[in-house]
Amino acid sequence: MASSAIRVLDKSGQEIKTVGFNRFGFDCEVPIDVLRSLYLRPHYVLTAPSNTDFSQEDAKEEELHAKFTRGLSSYQSKSIFHPDTYSISYTTLTRFPPVKLLSPLERKRILVTGGAGFVGSHLVDRLMLLGHEVTVIDNFFTGSKTTISHWIGHPNFEMVRHDVVEPFMIECDQIYHLACPASPPHYQFNAVKTIKTSFMGTLNMLGLAKRTKARFLITSTSEVYGDPEVHPQHEDYWGHVNPIGPRACYDEGKRVAETLTYGFHRQDGVDVRVARIFNTYGTFILLSHLNPADGRVVSNFIMQALRGEDMTVYGDGTQTRSFQYIHDLIDGLIALMNSKETRPVNIGNGDEFTIGDFARLVRDTVKKVKKEDDGVETPPVNIIHKPIPTDDPQKRRPDTSRAKETLDWQPRWTVEMGLEEMVRYYKAKLTEGSL
Ligand SMILES: NC(=O)c1ccc[n+]([C@@H]2O[C@H](COP(=O)([O-])OP(=O)(O)OC[C@H]3O[C@@H](n4cnc5c(N)ncnc54)[C@H](O)[C@@H]3O)[C@@H](O)[C@H]2O)c1
Repeated sequence: MASSAIRVLDKSGQEIKTVGFNRFGFDCEVPIDVLRSLYLRPHYVLTAPSNTDFSQEDAKEEELHAKFTRGLSSYQSKSIFHPDTYSISYTTLTRFPPVKLLSPLERKRILVTGGAGFVGSHLVDRLMLLGHEVTVIDNFFTGSKTTISHWIGHPNFEMVRHDVVEPFMIECDQIYHLACPASPPHYQFNAVKTIKTSFMGTLNMLGLAKRTKARFLITSTSEVYGDPEVHPQHEDYWGHVNPIGPRACYDEGKRVAETLTYGFHRQDGVDVRVARIFNTYGTFILLSHLNPADGRVVSNFIMQALRGEDMTVYGDGTQTRSFQYIHDLIDGLIALMNSKETRPVNIGNGDEFTIGDFARLVRDTVKKVKKEDDGVETPPVNIIHKPIPTDDPQKRRPDTSRAKETLDWQPRWTVEMGLEEMVRYYKAKLTEGSL
């Protein structure tokens, strides 16, 4: 199956075989194939043969699956759907993927709040493969157990259902504090709860960091810049935020979370790191009570194009965004955590697209993947326009010179490569019937 396996080229045309880096005496590289076998289809469902002959369909699903994982399927659980009885037999992993064997001095006890969400689940995969002991706390508001279920039972892994608004006690060396809904429909679903999560959740986790002397990293956001008057946005820019608009629960929540973080740093000497994350996309499907196309522009566009529906652009499409692929973000977060930089650091991809151009790129990528995989030429879907939501920023682009200087970090993934991987993943999920 290796011949049809997916190859990814970086910005300079080199094949990407590993993600992570090995510098400053710190090695966090992991093979992309192993990582993919975890995030592309951590769990997949096959249909059991019944009276009808399903074997051909099965073979097709297996082939599609092998394309992603290059034969690493023993790291995944595969369940069988029985159409006759409309039931499903869940299976568990036959083998956990190999994780690095670290000495007790090198092995860290790491807490990841919000570890069952999009960014969190990718971070957990990385930290686990690197050989650390990882505890996830999550209330499963937008995250789901299925995103990290492939680690359940591993001696280095623990998952706790817990709301960060309540205190939590644990011994740990590092805290990645991610817990907070990140997409507009989710954080606006209960604005008061979003502010509580941002403030009280961060207060609790900073208290924990103070007591355990753990290093604390918070995932802040480019939204702290609001609708910026300065382009690109450097960390020293103070922002232009509407404090009472519908997005304020998130924007102001993150701003106060940063204030708290630096309060603990100055007053109590807590060792802090602040990542200001710009738009990130990557493989992740929300399997909770909320909508699978979760209001983030990239997943919305892909789902609409794959289903042959009209693609919705809000406004005239001239507003610009920059998109970074999830692996670049995880590299940046790990680099920041292990660096000495205590000032805020922007982590994002500076390649700017208008939303209109981006919609066309998604449409063309979906068409290309359908042609390559199924040999079918599909008619292009329409792009339609709807009124722009309140406070939607017109332009946002990171100045990542600080990340380059202090972390030696810059994005490797092109938007095209990330998109292709994501389209294939969503397409496989649609074929499998889990979307
Ligand atoms: N994805 C992006 O483009 C982006 C951009 C900027 C910043 N961020 C930040 O990164 C972090 C992760 O974002 P994401 O995209 O993975 O979002 P997500 O919604 O997929 O994940 C958030 C996770 O936090 C959990 N959570 C929410 N409230 C909680 C609470 N009170 N207690 C415990 N768990 C809770 C959710 O269940 C979910 O698993 C967030 O802090 C977000 O603000 C993300």
